[in-house]
Amino acid sequence: MKRPLLLTLSVSCLLAFRRHPSADGFVVATTTKTTTTTTTTGSGTILYSSRRFATILKDTPLSPQQQQQQQQQCFRKERTIRLPKSGREVTLISRTLPIDSNLLQNITVWEWKNPSEVVNAYWDAQTHQMTTMTASSSAFTSKDPSSNAPSLLDPFGLMTWPGSVKAAQELCRHIDAVQGRHVVVLGAGVGVETQAASILGAKQVISTDIHPTTLQQLQVGIDQEPRIPSDVVQTQILDLFAIDHQPLPTPCDLLVAADVLYNEQLAKQICRRCAEAYRRNPKIQLLITDSQRFVPTFIEDLNTALEAVAVAEGRNFEKVDWHVETMEGFTGSGVMIDDDQMYNVKVQHVWIGL
Ligand SMILES: C[S@@+](CC[C@H](N)C(=O)[O-])C[C@H]1O[C@@H](n2cnc3c(N)ncnc32)[C@H](O)[C@@H]1O
Repeated sequence: MKRPLLLTLSVSCLLAFRRHPSADGFVVATTTKTTTTTTTTGSGTILYSSRRFATILKDTPLSPQQQQQQQQQCFRKERTIRLPKSGREVTLISRTLPIDSNLLQNITVWEWKNPSEVVNAYWDAQTHQMTTMTASSSAFTSKDPSSNAPSLLDPFGLMTWPGSVKAAQELCRHIDAVQGRHVVVLGAGVGVETQAASILGAKQVISTDIHPTTLQQLQVGIDQEPRIPSDVVQTQILDLFAIDHQPLPTPCDLLVAADVLYNEQLAKQICRRCAEAYRRNPKIQLLITDSQRFVPTFIEDLNTALEAVAVAEGRNFEKVDWHVETMEGFTGSGVMIDDDQMYNVKVQHVWIGL
């Protein structure tokens, strides 16, 4: 049976409603929507990413009985937060994710309860940009501050992604890379990997993201988690693209980026940020996970970037490759619908410097 999300992905609500970037970085739809089928050809972030979502969700679904069982096991709580700039009150809902390690059974984070409004409005605004700008426009290639394109923060950090669970599992497997260390998280989202690092004994975790709301949600999870010592986690707005004026926090012994490779531009920035970290600290360890598998050249680009640093600094660098595994029955937000989705998904991860 096709799930509603796939259907949602094949259509887009265009132009029949007003939208504007809100003070909190979202696009807010304010009047009635009309539904039109979008073309699936053409270039640009939205169509490519939509296909990727569809591919993941087509992976073998579990039976309705298994889904029901999983949902029954889940006891979810709600709470509201107020967004500081707009004053808007939004409802968050807890999600407890199994990590299944002896060191860490599960982690509870706080997701946006009804994501479809903001996610669909974001896609619509992207589509609008695509129809009004050429594909070579700076809106698609860089965060050019002189661009007239409205600054739309993507809403994909409002919920948890499989790569964060994989990162948490890997941190459990390699606890020596975590205990007593200074950890920096890029694109931290609602904070699964942040919580894992801090519960496992990191000395300090600096969790960065471009989106202030996702960091607000992350903080709720930290505040609610008694296993995390106070003052270990700090949050910081950091735009991966702002490499010239927002350097990575220091000190950094371990850099983690979970599921932040979902378009070519972001993947390129992750390479540059890894090179930045490696240039500054030859002993740095890097953990990168990816459930989207959207940029096949990433691992080659990463090797090239790190090798260039090694050559310049007179160090040795051994090339690395992805480890790919299937994560079964990941249950996460439906993203474009307000229901959960359960699916099996291939997740790849790579460690550097272990
Ligand atoms: C797919 S989510 C992954 C979140 C989390 N790591 C996880 O796996 O659940 C990607 C994250 O990258 C963040 N992000 C997107 N663009 C960014 C940028 N230019 N700089 C920093 N973070 C960014 C998003 O806000 C979001 O939190």
